[in-house]
Amino acid sequence: MEKNRVYIFDTTLRDGEQVPGCQLNTVEKIQVAKALEELGVDVIEAGFPISSPGDFNSVVEISKAVTWPTICALSRAVQKDIDAAVEALKYAKRKRIHTGIGTSDSHIRYKFNSTREEIIERAVRAVKYARQFVDEVEFYAEDAGRTENEYLAQVVEAVIKAGATVINIPDTTGYCLPAEYGSKIKYLMDHVDGIDNAIISTHCHNDLGMATANTMAGLLNGARQCEVTINGVGERAGNTALEEIAMILKCHNDIELHTNINTTKIAPMSRMVSSLMNMPVQANKAIVGRNAFAHSSGIHQDGVLKEVSTYEIIDPKDVGIDDNSIILTARSGHAALKFRLETLGIKMSEDKLDAFYKEFLKLADQKKQVNDDDLLVLVGAERAETAHVKLDYLQVTAGKGMKPVASVGLDLSGEKFEAAATGNGPVDAAINAVKCIIKRHMTIKEFTIQNITKGSDDVGKVHMQVEHEGHVYYGFGANTDIITASVEAFIDCINKFKN
Ligand code: KIV
Ligand code: ZN
Repeated sequence: MEKNRVYIFDTTLRDGEQVPGCQLNTVEKIQVAKALEELGVDVIEAGFPISSPGDFNSVVEISKAVTWPTICALSRAVQKDIDAAVEALKYAKRKRIHTGIGTSDSHIRYKFNSTREEIIERAVRAVKYARQFVDEVEFYAEDAGRTENEYLAQVVEAVIKAGATVINIPDTTGYCLPAEYGSKIKYLMDHVDGIDNAIISTHCHNDLGMATANTMAGLLNGARQCEVTINGVGERAGNTALEEIAMILKCHNDIELHTNINTTKIAPMSRMVSSLMNMPVQANKAIVGRNAFAHSSGIHQDGVLKEVSTYEIIDPKDVGIDDNSIILTARSGHAALKFRLETLGIKMSEDKLDAFYKEFLKLADQKKQVNDDDLLVLVGAERAETAHVKLDYLQVTAGKGMKPVASVGLDLSGEKFEAAATGNGPVDAAINAVKCIIKRHMTIKEFTIQNITKGSDDVGKVHMQVEHEGHVYYGFGANTDIITASVEAFIDCINKFKN
């Protein structure tokens, strides 16, 4: 192992994908996995095979589709989980089983009703069992962030002796302070016999906004793998963002640590994950937010125009943002569209591209310029074509001094239905008309409208959460007409209902 090399373990498809409403299907996961391979990640955590047939299948298919990165499958410290992981990883060229158990007193007592000694026995048994099938076994000490260091060192020493090759120290609840997390890693480096036989990995959650700082503290104290997700997606406040760690290490030559990440692929990768997961990236998000390189104050603009380094520490081109990108209009040809899609990490067969080009032209006729976000929205709309409930037409009459009225036509698995309704606004009227056809109890919990860039001709994006029979479903719609986008987001939720 090279001393200054940091291994990037991407868990967008496992920990990142646990976000409610952001689940991807297998085809989408393969698309993300291939893009991660091109980005240069070392390990892709592809799923938790025992958790569902869908997850199992995704690990199998990603194993077949990806060549260079190690494919990792999660398991609890339980034989049947490990068996499922082994089976799912069958086709992986390089494979790793990620097994583990909670080690904090809180987990030992309340989750397992067990003792510290018994937890070590279970951990050792799981690692030995997994090592019979694969050369790379990673052990996670869940809630290590709140585990007493002395006991954690005993666990780590025992699992390394049992054959673990990577040791993951998760700050599962995102509780640690950077100095505390850094000294935890240092404690393990200094006190665990045989620590040189394994790589220590960080896995930090962002509940207190410290995931990146904690990961850096871990790396500065001897960890050489970090577990990260694109855009920092993940349960609750998310995981450490891959792009932040990659760029910190690139910008800070003084640290003398490096990764294999091709940073110029970061922006397209970020957009792909955001689009597929329907998770908008906050505008001021470090590295990948749309304002990350936008200088608006006069003082900054003046400085940047005189000498870019006055206010800019990263060249946008280094993260794949190219201001001179090809501008797509109704006069652009197939080649320009294909080039732009590929820059965004989207590859299409020629047939699919032909069909997509027609959709692109329709949008280009409505807008002067079609930008990258518009394209990502269109790719998402294509996916909606296979849905059971489709919007055939929508007509709304609204204006000052009149009650809005909407008529809607829906296609329910080939059968046509129509309804009209009023509401306290045009969106409300349109949703009420849909409800007249889909007679279920549905409550809109959240409704956000976001227009993508600037100008009244822009495509608007709508994110919606609808509660139905105790579950919350997440939907997305995009259209130059914001009322249509809202109805599409509502229908997207309906298409996801479990029953
Ligand atoms: O946060 C965590 O503890 C995890 C483990 C399962 C690795 O995601
Ligand atoms: Zn986690």
